[in-house]
Formats: sequence, structure tokens, C-alpha cells
Amino acid sequence: MTQTLLLLPGDGIGPEVCAEVRKIASALTNDLKIDEKIYGGASYDAHGAPLTDETLQAALEADAVLMGACGGPQWAKVPRHLRPEAALLGLRKEMQVYANLRPALCFDALADASSLKREVVAGLDIMIVRELTGGVYFGEPRGIDDMPDGQRRGYDTQVYTTSEIERVSRVAFELARGRRNKVTSAEKSNVMESGVLWREVVTDLHAREYADVELEHMLADNAAMQLVRRPTQFDVLVTDNLFGDILSDAAAQLTGSLGMLPSAALGDAGKPGLYEPIHGSAPDIAGQGIANPLAAILSFEMALRWSLDRADIADRLYAAVIKALEDGARTRDIGGQLTTAQMGDAVLKALG
Ligand code: IPM
Ligand code: MG
Repeated sequence: MTQTLLLLPGDGIGPEVCAEVRKIASALTNDLKIDEKIYGGASYDAHGAPLTDETLQAALEADAVLMGACGGPQWAKVPRHLRPEAALLGLRKEMQVYANLRPALCFDALADASSLKREVVAGLDIMIVRELTGGVYFGEPRGIDDMPDGQRRGYDTQVYTTSEIERVSRVAFELARGRRNKVTSAEKSNVMESGVLWREVVTDLHAREYADVELEHMLADNAAMQLVRRPTQFDVLVTDNLFGDILSDAAAQLTGSLGMLPSAALGDAGKPGLYEPIHGSAPDIAGQGIANPLAAILSFEMALRWSLDRADIADRLYAAVIKALEDGARTRDIGGQLTTAQMGDAVLKALG
């Protein structure tokens, strides 16, 4: 049965990199229907809302959703609930994609692009599993109130339930079994109640169902330090929404190639996944045709693997990306000169 990929190019460099995904998708298969909808700041400008009902409905009905990027300085003054970021958070929540897989992988051809020494990052292959639909990003109450003494008070709520912790941990343990069989769980159980619960739930699930996997608990601040000290000690790193946001940026930078890293956000089996490059909309280079499309292409690769049941094509595409890099294909962010379109062509050529 033909499956549907919904493309949400969004803002900034999003449309440019998504164009390369289209090129590659049609070279790989004619059995995939690609739809496209407006999203993010572009949608706000056109419809007054960053995520319209039409786009949301199309996302819920697709087999996988691939986003380019969203946001930009021109929407900084728009009320928060209408900003492009609100579309992103809304989509995550509505699609119930609670497990965010963010691989930080050091491609050997690019190890010298890292700000860390080659010997520290060589062979790096971390899978960060970030909880994506709970925690302080969505917790209530939140707000900014006026106080009787004339001050103002801003607050957010960090909250997790047993089932929210358990389902994302399960994803981490399952992934570890197919990798190097180790899970590191990061929280701040030394200062936070939600961290105490997080540690307990992960420990219980491990004892009940995943005793064959090595489990290590680490305070989130220490995890940040260990990531830059000896990153190769990590295999799967599972953590909450906010710590995951921060730790995944740190991990991405280790690889020296932020412009190359994909991500997948998954919910329960059978539900569409949400795929997006780790990089942002890069307004400074948007429209120049020099953005690196590899993160979007690799996000498509993850969609083929995790939502579209096409591991066969995903393997081919992944090998082609590695080959293109080894053949010297580089965009500006990784020390080369190729344009976005030439980079897409280099992957096509490597596909043969
Ligand atoms: C990310 C981003 C988002 C987040 C922003 C843009 C809302 O930083 O995907 O990591 O904080 O989740
Ligand atoms: Mg982030």
C-alpha cells in the first residue's frame, strides 16, 4: 500500500533542504506519496496561525511527517501562542510523539570538524532519547503573575507521571538492546521530586523487564560534563524534556556537524512519527542555497526506517550519505563549498 509522507518545509532554510529530500525520495521509490502543507511562520503570515487545523489533520493522517525548520527573527514579537515554536510544540503534543531520538554520531570523515580533539570524538555514537511531550514544557500551572508588593512572579511546573516515564524508558531500553546494550538515565534526583520519581520508575522497569541491559543513573549536570569529557562512554542516554533539550545540543556539537544531524519523534506503534533536522531555520543563510541538506536527508532516512517500514531503502540511503562524505562532498558548515542542490546531487550520485 502506498504510504504518505507529509512534508512541512516551514521557514528559513527549511524549504531549500526539503527540496533535496523530494529529489532523493523520488529517486529511491515511486511507492511513496509526498504531500506538503504550510507550517510555522509561513503559516502565521498566510493564515494568522502557525499550525492550522488543516495541517494538523494532515499530520495525524500521514504515515510520517518531515519538518524542515521553523521560526525566525521576524516572528519574535508575535504573541507566544502564535509563534512558530508554538506550532512545533503543538504538533509534538497532538501527535503524542513522546520519545525523541536524537543520534549524535561522529562521521569519521568529519571527526576533524569537532571542537574537541579527534581522539575524544572518534567512534562517537550516542542515541539521546529525550522525553518530548511532558515535563516543564507542558506542565501546569505556568504563568507570570503580578504580586501585591509590585513585583512579578514567573513560574513553570516540572511534572511527570509514572506512565510518562515508563513509556520513554521502554523506548530507550529497546534501542539499547539493538546497540551496545547500555542505558544512562539522567535527572536531578538530588534536588527535584520529579527526578526522584524518574529514577525509581526507570529502576523498577529495568528490574522487571530489562535486567539484561546495563543501566546507569547519572545526575544531569554530571552528564553534561561527561559528554564533553569522555563522550564515547555513552550508548543510549534517556532523559526528560528540558535536560534532553540541553544535553542534545551539547552532544550535537561534539560531532562538529550540527548541520548533519537528524531526529525522530515517535509515539505508540502504528502512529505517525515526526522527523526533523536538529538544526534551526538559519535565517542568516536562508535563500542562498548553501544550507547543508544532509540533516533533512538523514531525517528522511529515519522516517523510512522507523515509520515507513522501508529499512531496505534506508540502508541504501545511509550508505550513500557516508559515501558522498568520503568522496569529499561538503557544504560550507562542514568545511566545503558545495551548494545545497549540489550536495543533494552528490547523494544521488552515490546512490548510483
Ligand atoms: C529543539 C528546540 C525546541 C525545543 C524549541 C525551538 C522550542 O530547541 O527541538 O530542541 O526547545 O524543544
Ligand atoms: Mg533545542
